[in-house]
Amino acid sequence: MDDDNSTRSLSRALREIVAAGSPGDRLPSVRALQDAHGVSPLTVQSVVRELSAEGLVVARPGSGTFIARALAPHALADTSWQQAALGGHTPHDISNTLALFTKPAAGVIRLTGGYLDESLVPTAALSASMNRALRRPGTWGRSPLEGSESLRQWFAREIGGVDASNVIVTSGGQAALSIAIRALTRPGEAIVLESPSYTGAISISRSYGLDVAPVPVDDRGMRTDLLAGILERTNARVVLTQPLFANPTGTTMAAERRAELMRIAERYSVFVIEDDYAHDLAIERGAPASLASNDPHGHVVHIRSLTKPIAAGLRVAALTAKGAAYSRLRSAKSLEDFYVAGPLQEAAADFVNSPAWTTHRRRVSAELGVRRDALVASLVDKLPELAITVRPRGGMHVWARLPDGFDDVTVTAAALAEGVAVTAGRAWFPAEPDGGHLRLTYGETPALEIPEGVDRLARAIAGLRG
Ligand SMILES: Cc1ncc(COP(=O)(O)O)c(C=O)c1O
Repeated sequence: MDDDNSTRSLSRALREIVAAGSPGDRLPSVRALQDAHGVSPLTVQSVVRELSAEGLVVARPGSGTFIARALAPHALADTSWQQAALGGHTPHDISNTLALFTKPAAGVIRLTGGYLDESLVPTAALSASMNRALRRPGTWGRSPLEGSESLRQWFAREIGGVDASNVIVTSGGQAALSIAIRALTRPGEAIVLESPSYTGAISISRSYGLDVAPVPVDDRGMRTDLLAGILERTNARVVLTQPLFANPTGTTMAAERRAELMRIAERYSVFVIEDDYAHDLAIERGAPASLASNDPHGHVVHIRSLTKPIAAGLRVAALTAKGAAYSRLRSAKSLEDFYVAGPLQEAAADFVNSPAWTTHRRRVSAELGVRRDALVASLVDKLPELAITVRPRGGMHVWARLPDGFDDVTVTAAALAEGVAVTAGRAWFPAEPDGGHLRLTYGETPALEIPEGVDRLARAIAGLRG
């Protein structure tokens, strides 16, 4: 594989050719670029793809790659009327959540993200499942609002403690979170979120006008000793938790805290939304059972996503609840989008019921283990000043505390300038962060790239020390 310097220098050289040339000019051939820059054909193709995606060049198979024609200038639209129509009441700023979708430039090593990278997506098996799904009668028809029966049954068996009638299929875990929070709260009420917590959940809560009440997390999960006081002070009726391999901290909630959380939920009559987003991303055996599997009285609203462990494009998740809460969630979901597209549900059901699912899970678990170990070992070796209190037993993220005096946003910018993307920790705190943190993700980064990524981060931090 070519190093990033040669990729970057090829990208620079081609951009210079485009800037100096005219539309329709032919770029040098792949072979000429290979020879001139000492890179492989794959690197040339990947840089050409990048330029083509930016609209700078057009590749014509068999003829070569050409400088793109400049687009005809559009008459500038006058959309100023919209400012009056939209008014000054701007919605909650969700830039932290949108930032999760920023794509780093070519050559930058990603220690960011939240989905499996291409190399771990079971493309062939998923395509086979989709082909079978498309041949099944009724796939293109109307799905039940709650989702396909076979998928609901599968989720119910997997989750335990619920049956298919408790399951609603949603289009990804984000939609499930959004529906659950909206259906179980009213604007102006409080919601208890772990601190730190998933930034997307903080955005959802704020955008519905909820008052976010943080409960701190330590290396054993939510500080349940503080929960009763928070519920009494805020009257919150909903507590959101990620008890397994939490994003961002990697923490798994300890058994006695799980039991205490459920006791408090019963005593205060509150709902516990259990975001089990990383259930199928376990690296080590022995993960505790979900809260939902031991919830006889319907306090737990459970979320389980297939997007995380299978493919970013498989937007399928389950939202489960019991009693009247189920009806509320079902209504809220139906208002949103009626039902998830039949072909996607059928393909997901086919895949998880096939032997490919077990093979895939084993592969993902083994590979995530290799990546996690590479990341933790490199950090310990090259950045011992970063404090890592939890070595995650699953999931995709390592949470690291920066030494005193370092600002997470400054470090993140310096790291990007060195060619590694990491995530500043502050967006994961519902209120003021207690110190600077970085979230370092290994789920999207092949293990071989991780040590180089950490080297770049170490250089950035050393540079800031001056
Ligand atoms: C903790 C957590 N919950 C939910 C989601 C949403 O996931 P999905 O892709 O299933 O919508 C994410 C995505 O990053 C997440 O990290």
